[in-house]
Amino acid sequence: MAIHIKTAEEIEKMRTAGRLAAEVLEMIAPHVKPGITTEELDRICHDYIVNEQAAIPAPLNYHGFPKSICTSVNHQVCHGIPGKRALKSGDIINIDITVIKDEFHGDTSRMFLVGEASVMAKRITRISYECMRIGIEMVKPGVHLGDIGYAIQRHAESNNTSIVREYCGHGIGRAFHEEPQVLHYGRPGTGIVLEAGMTFTIEPMVNVGKRHVKLLPDQWTVITKDRSLSAQWEHTVLVTPTGFEVLTLLPGQTL
Ligand code: MF3
Ligand code: CO
Ligand code: CO
Repeated sequence: MAIHIKTAEEIEKMRTAGRLAAEVLEMIAPHVKPGITTEELDRICHDYIVNEQAAIPAPLNYHGFPKSICTSVNHQVCHGIPGKRALKSGDIINIDITVIKDEFHGDTSRMFLVGEASVMAKRITRISYECMRIGIEMVKPGVHLGDIGYAIQRHAESNNTSIVREYCGHGIGRAFHEEPQVLHYGRPGTGIVLEAGMTFTIEPMVNVGKRHVKLLPDQWTVITKDRSLSAQWEHTVLVTPTGFEVLTLLPGQTL
């Protein structure tokens, strides 16, 4: 029910978990090439998180999820299960990493263009990134979550793309998903008012076609109903007294 305001000690642990999640994305980047299977990507990430980071891959066994990362290719929106599919030139893939370190979660995802990407693949990748960045840059005490959702939705729709409604960002901390829900659409002046010490993700899913999605029979993979391309980026963000801190950037990295 209540939104947990993190203490200074908890924020320090969130910084560590966030950095580790970012480091997994950096580590896996050179492996995302034509020919590799998504289960090979999962295996490399799993072993890195467990053996090098001494951390826990949060998705593994989360509500029965069978793998350590999510890999969502082309018209897959989110929660794709790594498997025998080999990436080929022209694919786009979202890799979503969540690690638990010292009881706290860091959650981040990004798009990769595999080989030679189409104009449309590059465009949806760029627009989804801009949606996330626009949302993050609005974060500061006193702002309504609805203000942020509205700005994200407006950017997507003014570019003739659409925002998925069924999945959203979320509070994060000791729990993978906690309050509040961070909708990527909405109306200004609605929703909760941000306070320093809140931590949550912003992770808009943006479709080339219509916003509607469907769940595959595996009960996890979400795809666009019209099979249009979909893209997503995600960061974990802290509300600071003056604005925001992105917890899932690498040291020296900027948005
Ligand atoms: N990392 C996803 C998110 O951004 C959640 C994945 S849940 C899983 O919230 F079970 F599919 F891994
Ligand atoms: Co998330
Ligand atoms: Co995630």
